[in-house]
Amino acid sequence: MKAFWSRIARELSPYVPGEQPRIANLVKLNTNESPLGPSPLALEAMRAAAVDTLRLYPDPEAQELREALAVHHGIKPEQVFVGNGSDEVLAHAFVALLKQPKPLLFPDVTYSFYPVWAQLFGLACETVPLDDEMRVRVEDYRREAGSIVIANPNAPTGVALPRAEIARLLEDHPDIPVVIDEAYVDFGGESAVPLIADHPNLLVVQTMSKSRALAGLRVGYALGGVGLIEALHRVKNSFNSYPLGRLAQAGATASVHDDAYFRESCARVVAGREAMTRELIRLGFVVLPSSANFVFARHPARGGPEFAAALREHAVLVRHFNKPRTAPYLRITVGTEDDVRRLIAAAVLILGHE
Ligand SMILES: Cc1ncc(COP(=O)(O)O)c(C=O)c1O
Repeated sequence: MKAFWSRIARELSPYVPGEQPRIANLVKLNTNESPLGPSPLALEAMRAAAVDTLRLYPDPEAQELREALAVHHGIKPEQVFVGNGSDEVLAHAFVALLKQPKPLLFPDVTYSFYPVWAQLFGLACETVPLDDEMRVRVEDYRREAGSIVIANPNAPTGVALPRAEIARLLEDHPDIPVVIDEAYVDFGGESAVPLIADHPNLLVVQTMSKSRALAGLRVGYALGGVGLIEALHRVKNSFNSYPLGRLAQAGATASVHDDAYFRESCARVVAGREAMTRELIRLGFVVLPSSANFVFARHPARGGPEFAAALREHAVLVRHFNKPRTAPYLRITVGTEDDVRRLIAAAVLILGHE
């Protein structure tokens, strides 16, 4: 079967996304999706876009969406790049910016797609250990590097660095590209976007999959100096001219315009996270301080794989990463109030609590 595979295909270790099983009545807390729906205005815009013009290719530059994002973030449209989910935007950044003669640095515990892209695109990379409390320490990045990527808040820990720490990292590395992946920033992190004006080497990547509840639409974007954005366009236009269809552009643009809905949904997810954290702590879990739409938690009385499997028996799906530092932990997405009730009820049964 593998006779026709290229050497690249044979040697890859692909990223494994969280399960999307078809189990009835499942509590699905394994892929950091939003428990709330997208903006009604976004849904309406997509319905309105589902017309005869679908026979025509979409705007390859997604001008309207880039203008809306530029206004939202207080920068110029030429400083915005959009793509098919932030995964695609990050993949382009690996090729366009992060691939340098010297190695790419990223934390030892972080988004597990980074090493996959490094392998696919042939980047040398080095991991920098988190500290004992699973925090990124920017002083540990003071070493020879060709480029840096950091998720902030980090995944799967949910732990965030203040903007001042990102500024220190940029001051230490003015001459290499630095990508800050802010997939979860809207749930309480401090965005690095205000640092773009003074740092032409900074690219900030965000997504509509989490805080805008549009994971199914696949829209992500990057913000940065025009030089960095131009490099992304060069790679994109060497790969796929139309990464965002008409429906995606219409829905994403309307979502950006509906700021009130966006703010309210983020606030609701944050309140849900705080409530879920309190319940987990009450059951004896150790929960890392999260600024994301999930928590990273371990229970001293049960191993991570065992707990994840036991929850699955109760139709509650959480994510478990079976690597040495992450093995004791469960990554649990903030669900609806009902999801959280069912999670806690299952955990009580598993732990044999009253
Ligand atoms: C840290 C991080 N970055 C990027 C992504 C990709 O998100 P998307 O491709 O849906 O925009 C994820 C998804 O889980 C993530 O956790």
